Amino acid sequence: MPAAVLGKTILLIVGGGIAAFKALELVRELRRAGARVLPVLTENGARFVTPLSLSALAGETVRTSLWDLEDEASMGHIQLSRAADLIVVCPATADLMARAAGGQAGDLASTLLLATDTRVLMVPAMNVRMWLHPATRRNVDRLRGDGVTVMDPDDGEMACGEYGPGRLPELPAIMAAIAAQFGDRPLAGRHALVTAGPTHEPIDPVRFIGNHSSGKQGFAIAAALAAAGARVTLVAGPVHLPTPAGVTRVDVMTAREMQAACEAALPADIAVMVAAVADWRADAAGTKLKKDGSGPPPLILTENPDILAGIGHHARRPALVVGFAAETGDLIAHASAKRTKKGADWIVANDVTEGVFGSDHTHVHLVTAAGPEDWGSTPKQAVASRLVARIAAHLNGQS
Ligand code: CTP
Repeated sequence: MPAAVLGKTILLIVGGGIAAFKALELVRELRRAGARVLPVLTENGARFVTPLSLSALAGETVRTSLWDLEDEASMGHIQLSRAADLIVVCPATADLMARAAGGQAGDLASTLLLATDTRVLMVPAMNVRMWLHPATRRNVDRLRGDGVTVMDPDDGEMACGEYGPGRLPELPAIMAAIAAQFGDRPLAGRHALVTAGPTHEPIDPVRFIGNHSSGKQGFAIAAALAAAGARVTLVAGPVHLPTPAGVTRVDVMTAREMQAACEAALPADIAVMVAAVADWRADAAGTKLKKDGSGPPPLILTENPDILAGIGHHARRPALVVGFAAETGDLIAHASAKRTKKGADWIVANDVTEGVFGSDHTHVHLVTAAGPEDWGSTPKQAVASRLVARIAAHLNGQS
């Protein structure tokens, strides 16, 4: 992974937040990996780390002001914004993201972000309520729509004592997100739709029909597609997983919500439907069902729409549609039948008697029109990378 940043120039904008001190570790790590780091410190950032420490670690002049004559003389801000192979904003505060999303240019950091044609990676850190505020949600969506990669912050206890999403991601995750920016991007310009996780179908306000899907495989595929340069819409059922970098996530609960979110995400070039959609929904009671002595309540079940089949036979069908099949016997026969019936190009078949749910490993077969291929027992991450490499080769006419 460090090889990806070797010899690259990274413009690092350090925003004003308690996590700013971690930017110093990032500078050290990037330089260790062979990158040149040009540091920019916002006015508020300078309240948390000193220009001197940043400059000493980076081995470069720290730029802080739009109006610094010496900076302008040595390298103007337009030139500076283009001298880098990547701009990283760490920590990206709510304020800095709001200004970038609004196209403002009132200080050096925002001007650089507006003047650049270089890729931008934002690493947010802020109070949980600020992160969850609708204004920040809007700004993050806007930035992602503008092509900026915005990482999701980590969940956990915050410096302010509150708990939830808002912590700066761990250093290895930031380094991986930076490396991904320099990887091969064979799916650049393509839009991929991915479903992941289970769906929950309510029985009453407190109970639901669900399944054991953890969402790990779908999230790994979404991450691999994004790393390959695709714009990814991840429609996720109820799971506790962080959103992979560069992925736009739509959270849903039921199969019908998942179907609507998939429809709304079209057009797409690629659809990978990994979700374990509940096949049936109940006629949900409006109030909690009580044990009133008359025996168990009858559960009237209705079949849910088949989302994969809907996409596979859609008027705006993506060029490549990939489904999954979870089976407990006759793996290849069932998977091949699902491929034809649902209008999928490929089916990734896995035998779920082998303890796949929640595990990091799986044993899959890829079933295409040419027949099944045994991919053996591998980590879900490896299935994701292999599948994405295969998707890229197919769409780029190499297979
Ligand atoms: N799928 C879907 N919508 C459904 C059911 C399944 O989109 N209502 C998709 C899954 O995301 C997966 C594929 O169809 O890509 C196969 O799912 P699976 O659970 O293996 O099969 P089912 O169609 O549910 O068939 P069965 O339960 O009879 O095996």
